[in-house]
Amino acid sequence: MKPFVYVANWKMNLSFTQEVAFAKQNQADLIELGKKPDTTIVLCPSYCSLAPLSELFKNSSIALGAQDCSAYKPGAHTGQIHAQTLAELGCTFCIVGHSEKRTQCHETNEQIAQKVAHLIVHNITPIICIGETIKDHRAGKTVAILEEQLAPIVAAFIHAETIPPLCFAYEPIWAIGTGVIPTPEVLKTTYAWLRAHLQQKLGHASQNTRLMYGGSVDEQTSAKITMLADIDGLLIGSASLDFQKFKKIVELQR
Ligand code: PGA
Repeated sequence: MKPFVYVANWKMNLSFTQEVAFAKQNQADLIELGKKPDTTIVLCPSYCSLAPLSELFKNSSIALGAQDCSAYKPGAHTGQIHAQTLAELGCTFCIVGHSEKRTQCHETNEQIAQKVAHLIVHNITPIICIGETIKDHRAGKTVAILEEQLAPIVAAFIHAETIPPLCFAYEPIWAIGTGVIPTPEVLKTTYAWLRAHLQQKLGHASQNTRLMYGGSVDEQTSAKITMLADIDGLLIGSASLDFQKFKKIVELQR
């Protein structure tokens, strides 16, 4: 079985108390689920819950991830969290470039590449989100947008003999939270292009990259998506807030 990653992106849906309560309530079941062979489950709560969740899942089958990190070095950056802090809290993954952050906080591709650089220094695997708007999708610009979003990250590794583990999550913006998933043709062509592009730019080092999918993944759509697309993982938003749904998604994957 090929290794498969399930990332639960809780976003800002729950409060601190609710996140910790959810984790406590499902602690044993989550740990059991995470023991499935070749499976990595990553919980991404909000920043404040990282410390208590790190205790709850210490040395267990469950990995911890943050939803973002700062693009800056430690210093005068009010309200930001550095990768080192995330590492100290037990994070081994971190989402960067989520479309909600790109849109709501006007993040640039260069800033996202800087975040990736900080995460790598602290041995945190970045989960780099990329994806196009419905307007760009309809205009046939998907590949052009993805290429632009990937450019500064790819450039940082272009002559590298080896690269650290990197996850790229294709999340079409029009599929996030909408219940709409891409057609088989879109999935096939997009992932074929992504693999070829990374191989062309990074050569053999691209073997250390994982491709994931995110956007309206639930217990109904997950099997279809993984059947159609050559992917190594799923980024799950709303369905990860319902343990039974999340469990089904993990169990369905062969
Ligand atoms: P969704 O969110 O599963 O609720 O569509 C996915 C994401 O934004 O990561």
